[in-house]
Amino acid sequence: MSQRQLFVTTALPYANGNFHIGHIMEYIQADIWVRFQRMQGNKVDFVGADDTHGAPIMIAAEKAGITPQQFVANIAAGRKPYLDGFHIQFDNWHSTDAPENHELARQIYRDLRDIPESQGGSLIERRTIDQFFDPEKNMFLPDRFIKGECPKCHAHDQYGDNCEVCGAVYAPTDLINPFSALSGAKPELKSSEHFFFKLSDPRCVEFLEKWTQDGKLQAEVANKVKEWFTVRTNPDGTTSEGLGDWDISRDAPYFGIEIPDAPGKYFYVWLDAPVGYLASLKNLLDKRGENYDAYMANPALEQYHFIGKDIVTFHTLFWPAMLHFSGRKTPNNVFVHGFLTVNNGEKMSKSRGTGLDPLKYLSLGMNPEWLRYYLAAKLNNKNEDVDFNADDFMQRVNSDMIGKYVNIASRTSGFIAKKFEGKLASGYENSLQEMQLLSLFADTLPGIRKAIEARDYSKALRDVMMLTDRANEYVSERAPWDLSKHADKQVELHTVCSFSLVMFKLLTLALKPILPDTAQKVEQFFNIPPLTWADADNLLITPEGEQAANRINPAAMMGGHTINAYQHLMQRVTPEQLEALFEPPAVVEEKVTPGGEEIAPTISIDDFAKVDLRIAEIVNCEAVEGSTKLLRLTLDVGEGKTRNVFSGVASMYKPEDLKGKLTVMVANLAPRKMKFGVSEGMVLAASHADDKTDAGIYVLHPWPGAKPGMRIH
Ligand code: MSP
Ligand code: ZN
Repeated sequence: MSQRQLFVTTALPYANGNFHIGHIMEYIQADIWVRFQRMQGNKVDFVGADDTHGAPIMIAAEKAGITPQQFVANIAAGRKPYLDGFHIQFDNWHSTDAPENHELARQIYRDLRDIPESQGGSLIERRTIDQFFDPEKNMFLPDRFIKGECPKCHAHDQYGDNCEVCGAVYAPTDLINPFSALSGAKPELKSSEHFFFKLSDPRCVEFLEKWTQDGKLQAEVANKVKEWFTVRTNPDGTTSEGLGDWDISRDAPYFGIEIPDAPGKYFYVWLDAPVGYLASLKNLLDKRGENYDAYMANPALEQYHFIGKDIVTFHTLFWPAMLHFSGRKTPNNVFVHGFLTVNNGEKMSKSRGTGLDPLKYLSLGMNPEWLRYYLAAKLNNKNEDVDFNADDFMQRVNSDMIGKYVNIASRTSGFIAKKFEGKLASGYENSLQEMQLLSLFADTLPGIRKAIEARDYSKALRDVMMLTDRANEYVSERAPWDLSKHADKQVELHTVCSFSLVMFKLLTLALKPILPDTAQKVEQFFNIPPLTWADADNLLITPEGEQAANRINPAAMMGGHTINAYQHLMQRVTPEQLEALFEPPAVVEEKVTPGGEEIAPTISIDDFAKVDLRIAEIVNCEAVEGSTKLLRLTLDVGEGKTRNVFSGVASMYKPEDLKGKLTVMVANLAPRKMKFGVSEGMVLAASHADDKTDAGIYVLHPWPGAKPGMRIH
């Protein structure tokens, strides 16, 4: 097979917040595919970038008191730990605010604007429209920043595009008593010239109908897109025929790219966002010293975008039309996935996400490959939603990954090290069972490969697990632990363990795009170069028709090969980890300081038992000459003798107040020599930590019935 040249992207995340687990799922899905392509010897450039422009980011930056550039730079600075943490290997991460993107977006726009009459003429049109304007902020208001009363159900405080109470869809101008969510001011209608991309032009319709319906898109995506050619929903909730023109401009102030020859007009964020794919690629090629135009001119270049189902319109209509009519290459395909939910939760908030914090996952020492494996097991090539379920996660990780896959190596590798000096068996005479099993592997691996190519990872993993089950059956049946006890069965022991490891190597090959780190450890263990799909191709000499034994390539058996010591590959996930993962973050409360001080660190009951508290009778009490603070107490704790204790309560009690009363003392406190004599214990008294509060000090007094000498437990 000849080497393919692939350009792969994931959607560009809004730079208004950190990654959430939905983003990570998309990146893992794409990363698996990219690694898989590389294992087949294909050349891949895999890029991402931050989507930086638009009103929400501009407004968030203003609130934070920083420039939008600084705002998005702060977000960008936090990306790396997520990507590295989950083994997501982008070749480049860039920004839609980078110079490459400004230049490319403007060039694409010019190309669309300047289509010669001979080719049907310009696809850009200027039109004057009425829009809400905030007179205090001096800016046109995006729908989301206009609020008011729903024209249908009269719910208050609803957004400009739809009502969250009754679900009505309307135009911001339909709102009753509209107000600006930014300033509270009453918005004014103001007219402004906007730029439109003429998607309704017959050239666009014809091109897009073909582009979206030629069979490349997933069936459910193509069907959805088909509806847009026949009906469209207008902002006021009514419907019209066919594709509408696309408003691609916004008025200043706007954080975005200025439209050529139109001062004060900016591209709507969704125009320049997908151009960011090309800008990131160009930036990568520049760094490598390669030519962008030459790269894109390669007719064999394949371009793929991984995206979520919420942004299909932009990627199957606007983006291909922009590219095609500006004379550029269109994507070979757009791969659409569903949404990730957590523990049957609702769809996560698009910008914030909820439920499963990726960095918390990593900080708990949870293995990133558990998540890669789990998501792969749930992902197919449909745009169905995927639920992360904690019990299911634990089951798949512990039973499948560790209990089945890792188990093959951990049950057999020790014998090779201990008994055979790390050398695999060199001969497999009369090993029909092994040859048949290996035949099964050779016949199943191509299907696994096809499934990964088609992004049906769940099917691929079902087949991998089927093979894993067969391998484990083989190990259990041949029971190396029994063979090892018999001197006459050492050759068989050697065969069984070596062959188990041959199967383990092939399973690792199939899992490598999903478990890159584990695969690398296995390659080190086997002392072999990085596994590729060529290793699977080389299993057979004759593909079909022959007896199993004659089909297998002897080289596949690694006869006589010396391997390294086996290191345990993976821990199990614990219920404690999952519990901690979903524990709601502690609400950061103001520091509570009862009585002027925080509660002391927790102690055990044993710690408490060290303190011997007793009921004491104050048999005598007198003032201390030379001290205004202290009283001298004579205490009886039933020892047949009394104790002398000084207590700083003179400000509160006269000696006769205390004489004859019961109290509580620390009876095993080391005696302390004071200015006025030795104190043989301490009486318990309550006070505020800060004596400036004048809250006083109060001696403890037991309830009636307590007798001197009783211990307090
Ligand atoms: N900035 C746009 C994309 C521009 S592409 C030129 C955007 N950003 S986003 O941050 O909201 O979403 C980025 C990607 O994450 C999208 O593909 C989106 O579908 C995906 N996801 C967001 N939440 C998701 C889940 N809960 N589950 C899976 N993917 C989801 O849209
Ligand atoms: Zn309503």
